[in-house]
Amino acid sequence: MNHVKNQVERPAGVDVKPRHVQFDLNDIDRYWHGGDPFITHFFNGLSTLFPQGERFFIDSVRAVMDQIDNPKLQEEVKGFIAQEAIHGNEHDKYNQLLKGQGYDIDMLARHQDWWTRLGNKTMTKKQQLATTCAVEHFTAILANGMMEEPDRWLGNAPKNMQALWHWHAIEETEHKAVCFDVYNEIGGWYITRNLMMIQTTIHFSYMIARHVCHFLARDKVLWKWQTWKTGYHFLLGKGGIIRQVFRDYIDYYRSGFHPWQQDNSSLVGGWKKKFGDRYLRKKNPQPTTS
Ligand SMILES: [Fe+2]
Ligand SMILES: [Fe+2]
Repeated sequence: MNHVKNQVERPAGVDVKPRHVQFDLNDIDRYWHGGDPFITHFFNGLSTLFPQGERFFIDSVRAVMDQIDNPKLQEEVKGFIAQEAIHGNEHDKYNQLLKGQGYDIDMLARHQDWWTRLGNKTMTKKQQLATTCAVEHFTAILANGMMEEPDRWLGNAPKNMQALWHWHAIEETEHKAVCFDVYNEIGGWYITRNLMMIQTTIHFSYMIARHVCHFLARDKVLWKWQTWKTGYHFLLGKGGIIRQVFRDYIDYYRSGFHPWQQDNSSLVGGWKKKFGDRYLRKKNPQPTTS
Protein backbone atom coordinates (compact mmCIF):
# COMPACT_ATOMS: atom_id res chain seq x y z
CA MET A 1 0.00 0.00 0.00
CA ASN A 2 2.73 2.40 0.99
CA HIS A 3 5.34 1.08 -1.34
CA VAL A 4 5.35 3.10 -4.55
CA LYS A 5 8.00 2.18 -7.07
CA ASN A 6 8.89 5.36 -8.90
CA GLN A 7 11.43 5.10 -11.66
CA VAL A 8 12.71 7.78 -14.00
CA GLU A 9 15.88 7.19 -16.02
CA ARG A 10 18.92 9.40 -15.47
CA PRO A 11 19.12 11.74 -18.50
CA ALA A 12 21.60 10.84 -21.22
CA GLY A 13 24.92 12.64 -20.82
CA VAL A 14 24.80 12.67 -17.01
CA ASP A 15 27.40 10.40 -15.43
CA VAL A 16 27.85 9.64 -11.77
CA LYS A 17 31.63 9.85 -11.75
CA PRO A 18 33.91 11.86 -9.47
CA ARG A 19 35.99 14.77 -10.71
CA HIS A 20 39.44 15.10 -9.25
CA VAL A 21 39.68 18.71 -8.25
CA GLN A 22 42.11 21.04 -6.53
CA PHE A 23 40.96 24.16 -4.74
CA ASP A 24 43.36 26.48 -3.00
CA LEU A 25 41.31 28.42 -0.49
CA ASN A 26 44.18 29.71 1.62
CA ASP A 27 43.57 33.28 0.55
CA ILE A 28 39.88 33.47 1.47
CA ASP A 29 38.84 36.43 3.59
CA ARG A 30 37.01 35.91 6.84
CA TYR A 31 33.89 37.29 5.14
CA TRP A 32 34.58 35.93 1.70
CA HIS A 33 31.01 36.39 0.51
CA GLY A 34 31.10 40.08 -0.38
CA GLY A 35 32.11 41.04 3.18
CA ASP A 36 28.82 39.80 4.63
CA PRO A 37 29.01 37.75 7.87
CA PHE A 38 25.60 36.07 7.65
CA ILE A 39 25.84 34.87 4.06
CA THR A 40 29.46 33.81 4.48
CA HIS A 41 28.56 31.82 7.57
CA PHE A 42 25.52 30.27 5.95
CA PHE A 43 27.86 28.62 3.44
CA ASN A 44 30.47 27.93 6.14
CA GLY A 45 27.73 26.25 8.18
CA LEU A 46 26.86 23.99 5.26
CA SER A 47 30.53 23.18 4.77
CA THR A 48 30.97 22.14 8.39
CA LEU A 49 27.98 19.81 8.14
CA PHE A 50 29.15 18.08 4.98
CA PRO A 51 32.07 15.77 5.83
CA GLN A 52 30.32 13.88 8.59
CA GLY A 53 26.97 14.02 6.80
CA GLU A 54 28.51 12.59 3.66
CA ARG A 55 30.12 9.75 5.61
CA PHE A 56 26.67 8.96 7.03
CA PHE A 57 25.21 8.88 3.48
CA ILE A 58 27.94 6.52 2.32
CA ASP A 59 27.47 4.21 5.32
CA SER A 60 23.70 4.13 4.92
CA VAL A 61 23.89 3.04 1.29
CA ARG A 62 26.78 0.60 1.88
CA ALA A 63 24.69 -1.07 4.57
CA VAL A 64 22.16 -2.24 1.97
CA MET A 65 24.53 -2.95 -0.92
CA ASP A 66 23.91 -6.69 -0.61
CA GLN A 67 20.22 -6.11 -1.40
CA ILE A 68 20.88 -4.37 -4.73
CA ASP A 69 20.63 -6.77 -7.66
CA ASN A 70 20.60 -4.24 -10.47
CA PRO A 71 24.19 -3.95 -11.87
CA LYS A 72 23.59 -0.46 -13.30
CA LEU A 73 22.45 0.78 -9.91
CA GLN A 74 25.44 -0.90 -8.26
CA GLU A 75 27.73 1.10 -10.59
CA GLU A 76 25.89 4.30 -9.77
CA VAL A 77 26.29 3.60 -6.06
CA LYS A 78 30.04 3.25 -6.55
CA GLY A 79 30.09 6.61 -8.36
CA PHE A 80 27.97 8.16 -5.63
CA ILE A 81 30.33 6.93 -2.90
CA ALA A 82 33.38 8.19 -4.80
CA GLN A 83 31.82 11.62 -5.33
CA GLU A 84 30.72 11.99 -1.71
CA ALA A 85 34.10 10.84 -0.40
CA ILE A 86 35.87 13.58 -2.39
CA HIS A 87 33.31 16.17 -1.29
CA GLY A 88 34.00 15.23 2.32
CA ASN A 89 37.77 15.58 1.82
CA GLU A 90 37.53 18.98 0.12
CA HIS A 91 35.16 20.31 2.77
CA ASP A 92 37.43 18.95 5.50
CA LYS A 93 40.21 21.14 4.07
CA TYR A 94 37.85 24.11 3.88
CA ASN A 95 36.81 23.51 7.50
CA GLN A 96 40.43 23.41 8.65
CA LEU A 97 40.81 26.94 7.30
CA LEU A 98 37.81 27.98 9.37
CA LYS A 99 39.46 26.37 12.39
CA GLY A 100 42.52 28.50 11.69
CA GLN A 101 40.27 31.57 11.74
CA GLY A 102 39.34 30.76 15.35
CA TYR A 103 36.05 28.89 15.06
CA ASP A 104 35.50 25.80 17.21
CA ILE A 105 35.13 23.30 14.38
CA ASP A 106 35.99 20.36 16.66
CA MET A 107 33.15 21.22 19.06
CA LEU A 108 30.69 21.45 16.15
CA ALA A 109 31.91 18.10 14.84
CA ARG A 110 31.56 16.44 18.27
CA HIS A 111 28.01 17.70 18.55
CA GLN A 112 27.15 16.45 15.07
CA ASP A 113 28.81 13.13 15.85
CA TRP A 114 26.54 12.72 18.90
CA TRP A 115 23.48 13.05 16.65
CA THR A 116 24.92 10.69 14.06
CA ARG A 117 25.58 8.00 16.66
CA LEU A 118 22.06 8.45 18.04
CA GLY A 119 20.67 8.03 14.51
CA ASN A 120 22.75 4.91 13.95
CA LYS A 121 21.55 3.42 17.23
CA THR A 122 17.85 4.23 16.93
CA MET A 123 17.05 4.00 13.22
CA THR A 124 16.73 0.89 11.07
CA LYS A 125 18.87 0.57 7.94
CA LYS A 126 15.90 1.61 5.80
CA GLN A 127 15.20 4.64 7.98
CA GLN A 128 18.86 5.67 7.76
CA LEU A 129 18.71 5.34 3.98
CA ALA A 130 15.44 7.33 3.90
CA THR A 131 17.22 10.03 5.91
CA THR A 132 19.99 10.04 3.32
CA CYS A 133 17.36 10.35 0.54
CA ALA A 134 15.88 13.33 2.37
CA VAL A 135 19.21 15.13 2.77
CA GLU A 136 20.11 14.30 -0.82
CA HIS A 137 16.88 16.03 -1.83
CA PHE A 138 17.97 19.08 0.16
CA THR A 139 21.37 19.13 -1.52
CA ALA A 140 19.77 18.59 -4.94
CA ILE A 141 17.32 21.49 -4.63
CA LEU A 142 19.96 23.80 -3.17
CA ALA A 143 22.29 22.80 -6.00
CA ASN A 144 19.61 23.44 -8.57
CA GLY A 145 18.84 26.85 -7.07
CA MET A 146 22.55 27.71 -7.15
CA MET A 147 23.01 26.61 -10.75
CA GLU A 148 19.85 28.36 -11.93
CA GLU A 149 20.78 31.65 -10.34
CA PRO A 150 24.53 31.66 -9.75
CA ASP A 151 24.74 35.43 -9.21
CA ARG A 152 22.11 35.41 -6.52
CA TRP A 153 23.88 32.66 -4.62
CA LEU A 154 27.56 33.34 -5.19
CA GLY A 155 27.90 36.48 -7.30
CA ASN A 156 29.80 38.19 -4.46
CA ALA A 157 32.17 35.29 -3.83
CA PRO A 158 35.76 34.92 -5.12
CA LYS A 159 36.31 32.64 -8.05
CA ASN A 160 37.83 29.75 -6.06
CA MET A 161 34.77 29.65 -3.78
CA GLN A 162 32.42 29.83 -6.75
CA ALA A 163 34.29 26.93 -8.35
CA LEU A 164 34.12 24.79 -5.20
CA TRP A 165 30.43 25.34 -4.52
CA HIS A 166 29.43 24.87 -8.15
CA TRP A 167 31.53 21.72 -8.44
CA HIS A 168 29.72 20.29 -5.41
CA ALA A 169 26.38 21.41 -6.89
CA ILE A 170 26.85 19.63 -10.21
CA GLU A 171 27.89 16.37 -8.58
CA GLU A 172 24.94 16.56 -6.18
CA THR A 173 22.78 16.91 -9.27
CA GLU A 174 24.41 14.01 -11.07
CA HIS A 175 23.83 11.60 -8.20
CA LYS A 176 20.57 13.09 -6.88
CA ALA A 177 18.52 9.97 -7.63
CA VAL A 178 21.00 7.24 -6.67
CA CYS A 179 19.96 6.76 -3.03
CA PHE A 180 16.33 7.28 -3.94
CA ASP A 181 16.55 4.46 -6.50
CA VAL A 182 18.30 2.23 -3.98
CA TYR A 183 15.57 2.96 -1.44
CA ASN A 184 12.94 1.91 -3.97
CA GLU A 185 14.98 -1.13 -5.01
CA ILE A 186 15.07 -2.47 -1.46
CA GLY A 187 11.33 -1.91 -0.95
CA GLY A 188 11.38 1.31 1.07
CA TRP A 189 8.00 2.62 2.07
CA TYR A 190 6.55 5.94 0.94
CA ILE A 191 5.30 6.80 4.44
CA THR A 192 8.75 6.17 5.96
CA ARG A 193 10.36 8.27 3.24
CA ASN A 194 8.10 11.20 4.13
CA LEU A 195 8.38 10.79 7.89
CA MET A 196 12.16 10.81 7.56
CA MET A 197 11.88 13.95 5.43
CA ILE A 198 9.90 15.71 8.16
CA GLN A 199 12.44 14.62 10.75
CA THR A 200 15.34 15.65 8.51
CA THR A 201 13.82 19.06 7.83
CA ILE A 202 13.61 19.78 11.56
CA HIS A 203 17.05 18.38 12.29
CA PHE A 204 18.80 20.01 9.33
CA SER A 205 17.25 23.41 10.17
CA TYR A 206 18.40 23.06 13.75
CA MET A 207 21.93 21.98 12.77
CA ILE A 208 22.53 24.70 10.20
CA ALA A 209 21.12 27.33 12.60
CA ARG A 210 23.40 26.09 15.36
CA HIS A 211 26.50 26.20 13.17
CA VAL A 212 25.72 29.63 11.73
CA CYS A 213 25.00 31.00 15.22
CA HIS A 214 28.33 29.64 16.49
CA PHE A 215 30.21 31.49 13.74
CA LEU A 216 28.26 34.71 14.28
CA ALA A 217 28.67 34.53 18.06
CA ARG A 218 32.44 34.06 17.73
CA ASP A 219 32.52 37.16 15.55
CA LYS A 220 30.34 39.06 18.05
CA VAL A 221 27.78 39.89 15.40
CA LEU A 222 25.08 37.43 16.48
CA TRP A 223 22.90 40.11 18.06
CA LYS A 224 23.45 42.81 15.46
CA TRP A 225 20.35 44.00 13.61
CA GLN A 226 22.25 44.21 10.31
CA THR A 227 23.27 40.54 10.52
CA TRP A 228 19.69 39.31 10.62
CA LYS A 229 18.42 41.91 8.20
CA THR A 230 20.79 40.58 5.56
CA GLY A 231 20.04 37.00 6.65
CA TYR A 232 16.32 37.54 6.26
CA HIS A 233 16.73 39.01 2.77
CA PHE A 234 19.09 36.25 1.67
CA LEU A 235 16.89 33.42 2.94
CA LEU A 236 13.30 34.58 3.04
CA GLY A 237 12.99 38.00 1.46
CA LYS A 238 11.72 38.64 -2.04
CA GLY A 239 14.12 36.62 -4.16
CA GLY A 240 15.41 34.75 -1.08
CA ILE A 241 16.85 31.30 -1.60
CA ILE A 242 14.31 29.44 0.58
CA ARG A 243 11.50 30.96 -1.44
CA GLN A 244 13.31 29.94 -4.60
CA VAL A 245 13.59 26.26 -3.66
CA PHE A 246 10.41 25.79 -1.57
CA ARG A 247 8.26 24.31 -4.32
CA ASP A 248 10.94 21.77 -5.18
CA TYR A 249 11.17 20.87 -1.51
CA ILE A 250 7.41 20.25 -1.20
CA ASP A 251 7.43 18.12 -4.35
CA TYR A 252 9.26 15.38 -2.44
CA TYR A 253 6.12 14.54 -0.45
CA ARG A 254 4.16 13.43 -3.54
CA SER A 255 3.72 9.67 -3.75
CA GLY A 256 4.81 9.62 -7.41
CA PHE A 257 7.89 11.82 -6.90
CA HIS A 258 11.24 10.97 -8.48
CA PRO A 259 14.28 13.31 -8.43
CA TRP A 260 14.74 13.15 -12.22
CA GLN A 261 11.21 14.33 -12.89
CA GLN A 262 12.95 17.65 -12.64
CA ASP A 263 15.41 17.29 -15.49
CA ASN A 264 18.04 19.97 -14.84
CA SER A 265 20.81 18.02 -16.56
CA SER A 266 21.43 20.92 -18.95
CA LEU A 267 22.86 22.93 -16.03
CA VAL A 268 25.59 20.38 -15.31
CA GLY A 269 27.86 20.97 -18.30
CA GLY A 270 28.82 24.60 -17.61
CA TRP A 271 31.25 23.95 -14.76
CA LYS A 272 34.02 22.40 -16.82
CA LYS A 273 33.88 25.20 -19.34
CA LYS A 274 33.95 27.89 -16.70
CA PHE A 275 36.27 26.42 -14.05
CA GLY A 276 37.71 23.16 -15.36
CA ASP A 277 41.03 24.51 -16.67
CA ARG A 278 41.94 25.95 -13.36
CA TYR A 279 40.46 23.62 -10.80
CA LEU A 280 40.55 20.13 -12.27
CA ARG A 281 43.57 18.23 -11.04
CA LYS A 282 46.23 17.82 -13.69
CA LYS A 283 49.00 15.23 -13.81
CA ASN A 284 51.54 17.86 -12.79
CA PRO A 285 49.42 20.26 -10.78
CA GLN A 286 50.25 23.94 -10.94
CA PRO A 287 49.69 26.07 -7.85
CA THR A 288 46.48 28.12 -8.11
CA THR A 289 45.44 31.43 -6.70
CA SER A 290 41.96 32.87 -6.60
FE1 LIG B 1 28.21 15.91 -1.46
FE1 LIG C 1 25.06 13.98 -2.29
